[in-house]
Amino acid sequence: MHTADPAIRVRGLTKSYGQVKVLRGIDLDVRRGTVFALLGPNGAGKTTLVRILSTLVHPEAGQAVVAGHDVVRAPHQVRAAISLTGQNAAVDELLTGVENLRMIGRLRRLGRAESRRRASELLARFDLAEAARRPVKTYSGGMRRRLDLAMSLVTRPPVIFLDEPTTGLDPRSRQDMWDLIKDLADAGTTVFLTTQYLEEADRLAHHIVMINGGRVVAQGTAAQLKSTLAGEHVELTFADPVALSAAAAHLGAEATRPDPGAPVLRVPTDGSAAQVRRMLDRLAAVGVEADAIAVKKPTLDDVFLSLTARPAPATEVNA
Ligand SMILES: Nc1ncnc2c1ncn2[C@@H]1O[C@H](COP(=O)(O)OP(=O)(O)OP(=O)(O)O)[C@@H](O)[C@H]1O
Ligand SMILES: [Mg+2]
Repeated sequence: MHTADPAIRVRGLTKSYGQVKVLRGIDLDVRRGTVFALLGPNGAGKTTLVRILSTLVHPEAGQAVVAGHDVVRAPHQVRAAISLTGQNAAVDELLTGVENLRMIGRLRRLGRAESRRRASELLARFDLAEAARRPVKTYSGGMRRRLDLAMSLVTRPPVIFLDEPTTGLDPRSRQDMWDLIKDLADAGTTVFLTTQYLEEADRLAHHIVMINGGRVVAQGTAAQLKSTLAGEHVELTFADPVALSAAAAHLGAEATRPDPGAPVLRVPTDGSAAQVRRMLDRLAAVGVEADAIAVKKPTLDDVFLSLTARPAPATEVNA
């Protein structure tokens, strides 16, 4: 594979289950050594796409190339270049952490000594050394996630798929997982992750693709996606409807009501204190005072909600 080639290249990928078209023509590229985030509502087809890219499920049409190999024509080569962790973890509950790691090493033909060495290294790195000799069934959710990720790194694959790596983790464990993912990408690993936490994509991902209804509905960096929405603004709340009307009249076209049912005015801002003060001074000059004020920046959550507002109906194949 040429170094400029993407680590993952997907073109026109489709997949149906029975009558339901889950993927309706997905195109995407993942640059090598970057973190890529796939976002979409529940049932959008994220896990299905991950399973196709990791050769567990056959696509219906289209093409997917992972680490230079076609997932349909060269599944063994793809499998040798990837690892997958996520919603269906491969951890054996009855074995200890260290036994699980050594077993993977042996399955991947590392040899006994190398398997032991790699297991110790990963246990230390994933903060599992103390729990190493306990059966996994006694591990907490966060410990399991860390072990799951450690298991997929035993043989240092160039491409790693993480299906919701931080679901159910507490804020500290999530932060630890983010640090690990960043380290992986810094070391040159390509990370393909799915997540329901848009903050996660915002912090980690070099490139984000949102899917809905089986299609890509948006893609770009977090900043690019956010810039598709209205910019930073101030929200003024008025308990008194008369005050609201007076403020709206005084601020003129600058002020809009985002929700006609709520006593809120929205005014664009550059986020500076001076600009906000001038606006409040103008209102005070006509005797109007807001009861609450909040400065809002668009988040990826806002982008996601605006793009997935309408629930995507399950679509018939021959519709
Ligand atoms: N093996 C299967 N047989 C039948 N339908 C399936 C199968 N796997 C997935 N589906 C359906 O495909 C659709 C997409 O499922 P998928 O698990 O890919 O979604 P997802 O985006 O990962 O959702 P979540 O955010 O809940 O994990 C769903 O409607 C699901 O019911
Ligand atoms: Mg899923």
